[in-house]
Amino acid sequence: MESHKKLLLANKAWVQDKLSVHPDYFARMEHTQTPEYLWIGCSDSRVPAEEVTGREPGELFVHRNIANLVIHTDFNMLSVLQYAVEVLKVKHVIVCGHYGCGGVKNALSNRHLGLINKWLRHIKDIYRINRKELEALDENQQWRRMVELNVIEQVKHLAENSIVQRSWKNGGLPLLHGWVYDLQSGLLKELALMNAESELDPIFRLDFGDEG
Ligand code: CO
Repeated sequence: MESHKKLLLANKAWVQDKLSVHPDYFARMEHTQTPEYLWIGCSDSRVPAEEVTGREPGELFVHRNIANLVIHTDFNMLSVLQYAVEVLKVKHVIVCGHYGCGGVKNALSNRHLGLINKWLRHIKDIYRINRKELEALDENQQWRRMVELNVIEQVKHLAENSIVQRSWKNGGLPLLHGWVYDLQSGLLKELALMNAESELDPIFRLDFGDEG
């Protein structure tokens, strides 16, 4: 069988499976989505957001890109963030990285892979900022630590963002979480948590004036 047909066949089996437990499963799903979580994860095929958190369709709003980056000029990510925070009013935004991330590994090397290097270049800044800590580690430890530092940095990027800061001003949500997924154990680990009261370099505090 051609490999893509396996997916279509599995889809039919999945529908039957869901309907056998809840005959109205898809009818309920059709009209509304009220997820409490926005998940910003890596595109890596080994870290499926719903699966590793035991969630069903309708429970996670998901954005994935290579190395789970929050880039201030990425209109794709920003649109997802705005919709999740302002319309869906998610309570939590989770940035989830993973050990063994190929994107982070490439950023630690000098290998040029074309366009993707422009994207991963942002990770090199994290190396530069944390050079002292990282240079004391061996290659593998360095890779693991960079995965963690990358997650923590992306959570900070969220906290520096106007969409998040305005929402914090208007009610205190969402909570920002930084997690890392371990491919070997399947376990998630908490690395960072930020809320409206978290310390932020004053240069990134936005003044909304009388707005909102
Ligand atoms: Co990755």
